[in-house]
Amino acid sequence: MSAAGDAGTGVVIWMTGLSGAGKSTLASALHARLAALGRASIVLDGDVLRAGLNADLGFTPADRTENLRRVAHVAALFRQQGFIAIAAVISPEHRHRQAARDIVGAGFVEVFVDAPLQVCEARDVKGLYARARRGEIADFTGISGPFDTPVAPDITIATDRLPLGRAVDQLLDHLAAKGYLPAQGR
Ligand code: ADX
Repeated sequence: MSAAGDAGTGVVIWMTGLSGAGKSTLASALHARLAALGRASIVLDGDVLRAGLNADLGFTPADRTENLRRVAHVAALFRQQGFIAIAAVISPEHRHRQAARDIVGAGFVEVFVDAPLQVCEARDVKGLYARARRGEIADFTGISGPFDTPVAPDITIATDRLPLGRAVDQLLDHLAAKGYLPAQGR
């Protein structure tokens, strides 16, 4: 057994999607299910990392590029140690996801956490969409900043249509099919 638990080929699960699409919720649910399977994972959440490691960065294009570069490198280090590293970051542009894929190399799974803008805006858990609509937040993804719809994600999870447990099942099935989890015992 490796330090990262059983069956330890590392992988990066890169969750991209709008603010409020459900990335953090899905990431922590996946993390919990993996823990129950004895498989070590770590969640790299954009909001959490921005409170510490990336606290010097904002949301200009240059700062996002740097934020995501750091997240990708941290994820790659965990992957190399056999962990399942779950990054939950908006990563709004194609080039951000491509750069992350290039940094990580093999073992990169892109997950599009897909909820329509209207749904995210209606949820508005943090009140940021309302503020962005009032013109108070520059570069707010989906409102005053771009979000490129992923063109060829490995998996798309429609969080407004799929119950959380089934979404996690889909991710686990994909991981098992790719050899990152033992196929038995789930
Ligand atoms: S990313 O674009 O660099 O990938 P990241 O995932 O780290 O973004 O952080 C996104 C979180 O920051 C959002 O969930 C939201 O809580 C907060 N946030 C604050 N300002 C912005 C903004 N201008 N655009 C998007 N998210 C913002």
